[in-house]
Amino acid sequence: MSEHPSNGSRALLPGQVKSWLGIAAFVLVAVAVLAYAFVAVRPTTNTDLERRTAQKALRADTESKAKALLTAPAKNADGTYRLPVADAMAVIAADPKVLAEMRKSAVAPVAPATASAAFVKADDEQLKRGLAVYSRTCIACHQPTGKGLAPVFPSIAATPIVNGDATLPIKFIIHGLMGPITVDGVTYNSMMPPVAGVTDQDIADVLTYVRQSFGNKSNPVTADQVKAVRAANAARTAPWNTAELGLK
Ligand code: HEC
Repeated sequence: MSEHPSNGSRALLPGQVKSWLGIAAFVLVAVAVLAYAFVAVRPTTNTDLERRTAQKALRADTESKAKALLTAPAKNADGTYRLPVADAMAVIAADPKVLAEMRKSAVAPVAPATASAAFVKADDEQLKRGLAVYSRTCIACHQPTGKGLAPVFPSIAATPIVNGDATLPIKFIIHGLMGPITVDGVTYNSMMPPVAGVTDQDIADVLTYVRQSFGNKSNPVTADQVKAVRAANAARTAPWNTAELGLK
């Protein structure tokens, strides 16, 4: 009372109450802002947390598969690799380091096959169509260079199967190929799945393209050839085994 002798307590109180209310309002707003920030930043739900955990596990799994691919335990006793194609593709897709490692270990292809005397060059239209089919159905595994990716996908550049009797690749493009096969000194023991969604003409075109690209120099393949092979094996459903086709 002694500090405000002329005012009295009645006039002083509303001013004090006002400033206290101001401070209280400020504190409330600050708390609300902090609370909002906390809610916005923390992982909001359980599923969010689960997703992060699952992503971490997937990364670890891919990494361990990639490591296994590059170490001895991924090999069979006979030196062939023991990795399903689907896994191999997942690993390759997920890990650029594996890709780089494979490129390093890729074996240089043998010298291009020499042209036979009766070599017939395919017409440009067929080669163009063949490239389109190749880009749609083969390129993921055998690569734009045709050199594949050792030790998972074999090269089709200057290999005897590509340049030999077309009946053989027609057979396994239609039904798939599995079992050990050695290409350019690397043994593959994997599976090429049947190539889906291709007509007889598509197979003729893609084989013609492959047989006249990547250093290969062999004659064109016709849709009639493909048709005949398809008809002769109409009852077949299972993939060809390399042993069954006389391949090693
Ligand atoms: C999913 C991956 C994949 C696709 C797609 C694929 N291949 Fe293959 N290809 C393989 C694998 C793996 C092998 C080896 C199979 C084995 O180990 O028995 C192979 C083997 C071959 C061979 C025999 C071996 C050699 O190197 O000469 C030829 C020829 C071939 N493929 C051509 C083709 C053509 C042409 C296409 C497209 C029409 C195609 N492949 C699509 C994975 C694939």
